[in-house]
Amino acid sequence: MKFGICTLDDFELKGKTVLCRIDINQPIDKVNNKLKDTTRIKACIPTIKELSDKGAKVVLLAHQGSDIEYKNYYTTQPHSEVLTELLGKKVKFIDDVCGPSARLEISKLNDGEILLLDNVRHMAEEMTLFETKLNLSLEEQSKTLVVQKLYPLADLFVCDAFAAAHRSQPTLCGFGQYLPSAIGRLFEEEFCVISSIMEAPKRPCIFILGGAKIADAFLMMNTVLDNGIADKVLTGGLVANIMLAAKNIDIGTSSMAFITKNNLSEFIDIAKNILKNHSEKIALPDDLAYIDNKRIEVGIDNLPDDSLLVDIGSQTAEAYKRTISEAATVFINGPMGVFEKDESEYGTKEIWHAIANSDAYSVLGGGDSITATNKYALEDSMSYICTGGGALIRFLTGEELPAVKALRDAAKKFPPTI
Ligand code: 3PG
Repeated sequence: MKFGICTLDDFELKGKTVLCRIDINQPIDKVNNKLKDTTRIKACIPTIKELSDKGAKVVLLAHQGSDIEYKNYYTTQPHSEVLTELLGKKVKFIDDVCGPSARLEISKLNDGEILLLDNVRHMAEEMTLFETKLNLSLEEQSKTLVVQKLYPLADLFVCDAFAAAHRSQPTLCGFGQYLPSAIGRLFEEEFCVISSIMEAPKRPCIFILGGAKIADAFLMMNTVLDNGIADKVLTGGLVANIMLAAKNIDIGTSSMAFITKNNLSEFIDIAKNILKNHSEKIALPDDLAYIDNKRIEVGIDNLPDDSLLVDIGSQTAEAYKRTISEAATVFINGPMGVFEKDESEYGTKEIWHAIANSDAYSVLGGGDSITATNKYALEDSMSYICTGGGALIRFLTGEELPAVKALRDAAKKFPPTI
């Protein structure tokens, strides 16, 4: 047991059917049916391998895509191919979640065999919209179809989906009402690493917050400034544009229209409030870049009216690099601009290299930040790459994550058997 949760060491695995919830949600090239990044899949391998090597019949449950921000569900079939390659062992796939075909495949598994079910979010009860509208208790989640159909076939539930642990959804939280449940090796490691850094971060501790996931970024900024974890916050991406607008800097009609169109106007007021309480700890860009056939950098007093601001400028990058060189701990969530394009990758590339070359302990989380790290081949230069974005942020708020609550609840109902 660790943190009041059972681990894989607490149960016999040989011959047992194990439902294992993982998070292998990755960017996908739908034209070629291929995953563009496999970081999260690689991270799940130790748990899956251990279960299979110890003789469990392994049933993997996972989602692909989000209904709230992207509306981009996709089958998990391509993931089974990557898993097969990484494990060096066949991972079967069935295009069903809990219907008769899936149940038949599960019942046919031999010891050590692995089966990946299709995208669990194809079930409406797994959607984030369903979660936020109904706010189900653990008991209510256990009454959903997916739990009711799958739990009778299994002996154990394993949750290795730290990246989705902030979601209160049936395949993350419902099985523990009926099955002994354990935390997977990846989840266990992420929990240990992030908790210990949070308890006593080496100072100065800085946060680099960029990207376009605004709700997450502002929640994180508020939390780490209010609870005193952050000594400094460096902003980039859309986060910085909103902060500048909150300071009454004219960011131009196009950028304001972008914020309005994406229903982000309320964050300008939230940003005003954060600035009121913590302005001395927040660094905003002095210059930004836009594209007009080529990259053009301008000071923040001279921003264009009709072009989107797509990157921090070089003066800002230099100032941020100086701060990074003096930091002892750096948290990174979100890129400095549209790093996918050549003209607007400068800021992200500079900052990422500065972090990689610094002596600071660096913790990076979130899909885009991981993709940028892979683009610049800096995976080995970051101290810790966390698979979670939203989950990491909510973990930092100090709230008990729903999947953790469900695992603790299950540990009380089903204590360790070995
Ligand atoms: C993620 O990509 O952050 C996780 O897979 C969770 O996805 P969600 O934010 O759509 O629940």
